[in-house]
Amino acid sequence: MGMLNGKHAVVTGGASGIGRAIAFAFAKEGGTVTIADYASEASIADAVKAAGNGAQGRRVNVADEKDVVQLFDAVGKSGGIDILVNCAGILVEKPLLETSVADFDRQIGVNLKGVFLVGREALRLMVAQDRGGRVINIASELAYLGRENCSLYCASKGGVLSMTRSWAREFAPKILVNTIAPGPTDTPMLGIEQTSAETLAQETNNPLGRLGRPEEIAAAALFLAGPGSTFMTGQCVSPNGGAAMF
Ligand SMILES: NC(=O)c1ccc[n+]([C@@H]2O[C@H](COP(=O)([O-])OP(=O)(O)OC[C@H]3O[C@@H](n4cnc5c(N)ncnc54)[C@H](O)[C@@H]3O)[C@@H](O)[C@H]2O)c1
Repeated sequence: MGMLNGKHAVVTGGASGIGRAIAFAFAKEGGTVTIADYASEASIADAVKAAGNGAQGRRVNVADEKDVVQLFDAVGKSGGIDILVNCAGILVEKPLLETSVADFDRQIGVNLKGVFLVGREALRLMVAQDRGGRVINIASELAYLGRENCSLYCASKGGVLSMTRSWAREFAPKILVNTIAPGPTDTPMLGIEQTSAETLAQETNNPLGRLGRPEEIAAAALFLAGPGSTFMTGQCVSPNGGAAMF
């Protein structure tokens, strides 16, 4: 018996990196997964195939209200949702003084408006279904630490943390809403192949002395999605190698 047998999860950003590992981990525990991503159809199909267990894929821009409403319309008509993972994200890295309003709109549009839109529609469906549910929002340890040249990214993730706490109160006791705030993790977002030795040294400056692996973040998501976290809501779990301690 898998931990998520009979459960259906929607994972945004599930075509790559952390989201892909989460979709894979959920499917291995018996869950069925819808991967909602704005990547190429081929990347989405590849992640769907890797997850298996009847996983499905859908090309969705989380920053587009129409796309998101259509996604949850389809999910509602095909058995509903038990778990949402809001994982889609982008990183705009620029010195503040070179940052434009267009950069702001792009960063906040995907990382914060996207979480708002997807969360709103998933929660609307969960409330209508009346069978409980879990929402897991992916923030970042940088929401706490801050990072030069990444202030918009950090602000978007601070917003995700804050929104999570409010949703946890608003949808208690039936729906549990938590955040994961990963430390630097070896995914295409981090672009480790292109990263200089200096940046890599900065990224791995934690007591464990290394980057995280996507599976290690997925393990936290599995915990928050599964039977072991029934007394947790509004919390932030931070697999970060000890770089930030709460
Ligand atoms: N990798 C890290 O070091 C790290 C650390 C902390 C937090 N995070 C967060 O983890 C999440 C996953 O990041 P990752 O490292 O796996 O990156 P990634 O680039 O490997 O994956 C991000 C996924 O999001 C998708 N995406 C981007 N914009 C989208 C949109 N508008 N609509 C739908 N999908 C969209 C991409 O297509 C991609 O598949 C992000 O929210 C990121 O901010 C990553």
